[in-house]
Amino acid sequence: MRVVTLAGSPRFPSRSSALLEYARERLNVQDIEVYHWHLQNFAPEDLIYARFDSPALQTFIGQLNEADGLIVATPIYKAAYSGALKTLLDLLPERALEGKVVLPLATGGTVAHMLAVDYALKPVLSALKAQEILHGVFADDSQVLDYQHKPSLTPNLQTRLDKALETFWQALHRRDIQAPDFHLPQGVAHV
Ligand SMILES: Cc1cc2nc3c(=O)[nH]c(=O)nc-3n(C[C@H](O)[C@H](O)[C@H](O)COP(=O)(O)O)c2cc1C
Repeated sequence: MRVVTLAGSPRFPSRSSALLEYARERLNVQDIEVYHWHLQNFAPEDLIYARFDSPALQTFIGQLNEADGLIVATPIYKAAYSGALKTLLDLLPERALEGKVVLPLATGGTVAHMLAVDYALKPVLSALKAQEILHGVFADDSQVLDYQHKPSLTPNLQTRLDKALETFWQALHRRDIQAPDFHLPQGVAHV
């Protein structure tokens, strides 16, 4: 099982990245191979000038191709996900998330914007043909106790992340089960 994690904050270290770091530790214990990426792996000019042939982008797309799932984390900026993350998502092939399970994570200063993942990020993940987009986890800044050193999260946030990661793990395994051939019942006409 392979998973790509993508930190979508222009800042590093960052609160939303701390959620990803927590997730990575949990997944490693489950014997899942994790490739970690953050926006700082890409030259800003490559993102801003849409350089589709950038080597970092090509490597990222290759690893994404081989992955079973993606966990993407973003800060909420102006009631949406970060613009810097969008500059990267814009450069991905149209079907970059085909067949993959995706878990979105977000941190924001106010719970008033906790639905930003649903109305802003999920449509983009869907446009990239993600097979299954799971319920995301939103944390407000007070729930990330430390992100400068080793991430420290409130027990409530840890519990929510653990549940989301368990669902993610189950979805990855479901995806692995070979689906039987689909046959229309007799008498149902093709239109
Ligand atoms: C430019 C900017 C815009 C922001 N806009 C919002 C916002 O609209 N809603 C919100 O809840 N938080 C907003 N915030 C707060 C961040 O989402 C929050 O601090 C987040 O945890 C930062 O994550 P990061 O450390 O991973 O970058 C904004 C922060 C910045 C710097």
